[in-house]
Amino acid sequence: EKGGYEHFMLKEIFEQPKSVHDTMRGRLLVDEGVIKMAGIWDHIERFKNANRIIIIACGTSWHAGLIGEYLIEEYARIPVEVEYASEFRYRNPIITDKDVVIAISQSGETADTMAALKLAKEKGAFIYGICNVVDSSIARITDAGSYTHAGPEIGVASTKAFTAQLTILTLIAFKLGKHNGNLGNAEFMSLIAELDAIPKKIEDVLATTHDLVQNIAKDFVHATNFLYLGRGYNYPAALEGALKLKEISYIHAEGYPAAEMKHGPIALIDENMPIVIIAPKKGHYDKIVSNVQEIKARKGKVIAVVNNGDTQVREMADYVIEIPETAECFSPIVASVPLQLLAYYIAVYRGANVDQPRNLAKSVTVE
Ligand code: M6R
Repeated sequence: EKGGYEHFMLKEIFEQPKSVHDTMRGRLLVDEGVIKMAGIWDHIERFKNANRIIIIACGTSWHAGLIGEYLIEEYARIPVEVEYASEFRYRNPIITDKDVVIAISQSGETADTMAALKLAKEKGAFIYGICNVVDSSIARITDAGSYTHAGPEIGVASTKAFTAQLTILTLIAFKLGKHNGNLGNAEFMSLIAELDAIPKKIEDVLATTHDLVQNIAKDFVHATNFLYLGRGYNYPAALEGALKLKEISYIHAEGYPAAEMKHGPIALIDENMPIVIIAPKKGHYDKIVSNVQEIKARKGKVIAVVNNGDTQVREMADYVIEIPETAECFSPIVASVPLQLLAYYIAVYRGANVDQPRNLAKSVTVE
C-alpha cells in the first residue's frame, strides 16, 4: 500500500504533482478563464459583504492559513485574520454575522478547530470548511466548503494535504478577487495559467532535488538546532519547514521571518547553526541576499532554496537547492517540497519512525 516507497510520508511527498492537480481539477478552467467553486459561488454575497475573513486552524493547516491571508489580502483585498483555533475559542473573540470564518483541517476532526467553529457559528458567522477527509465532522458542521482532493494522508506529518490546502486558498483568493474587481482580467489569466503549470513544476523539483537533498540530509544527522527563514509568502513556508523537521526528526527547529533574525535569533548563529533560507528571485530577493550575508558573516551553515540559475545566493551558500521560478504567490507550494524531503531524510538517517513520530497523532481529537 506504500506503493514501493519506504514510508507513507515519502509516497505522499511524491504524490503532490497529482494531489495538487486533483485539487484543481474541475475547478480551474484555464481555457475558459474561469474558476468554478460552487461552495464560494453559492454564497458569493456573504464573501462579498464580509467585513473580514477569519481563518482558524492548527499546526500545518494554520501555516496554510497564513499563506491564505497573504493571498486573499493581496488579490481580493479583503482583510484576513489567522488564528490558532485553540486561542480563538478561549479568548472571547469579536465575531459578528458579517464575518466569514474559514476553517482549514486535513482530518476535519481536530477538536480545537471544531470547537472554534461552533463558537463562530453561534455568533452568526458564515462558516466555510477546507477539509481533506470527506464527510468529516468539520465538513459536516460548516455552511459550505471546498474539499482538498489530496487523497488519504497516512503519514502523521502533513505534506500533500498542505500543498492541496494552498491550492484551494489560491483558487479562493483569485475567484474572490476576480469577482470583486480587485484582480484584473489580464493578471487573472496569467496567474491561472501559471497555477496550472504548478503540478509540472513540483514534478520537476522532485526529479531534480531528490538525490541532492538526500545527500544534504546526511550532513545534518547530528544537528541539534535549525533555523528556517523566509520572507513574504515564504515566511509561513519557513514555519512549515521547521515544523516538519521537529515532528519527525526531533531536532529543534524554528521558523522565522528572515528580517526578524536581527531581533533575536541572530544571537544563536555560529558555525554549528544550520539555516535553511528560502530565497526565490521573486519576493524580496535583495533583502534575502543581505540576510544571507549577515548569516555568513557569523559563519552559519546556509542551505538555500533558490531559483534555477541563481548566482548571488549561490556564491555564499554552503548548500544550494534549485527550484523553478514561479509567481511569488505560488512559491511556497514549490519551495515546500524540498523542505519536506530534507526533514524526511534527516529523520530517516536518525532512525526515527517517520510515519508515526513519538507523541503525535494523525488527528488531534482532544484539546
Ligand atoms: O487535521 P488538521 O489539519 O486539523 O490537523 C492540524 C494539525 O494537528 C496538523 O497539521 C499537525 O500539525 C500535523 N502533524 C503537521 O504535520
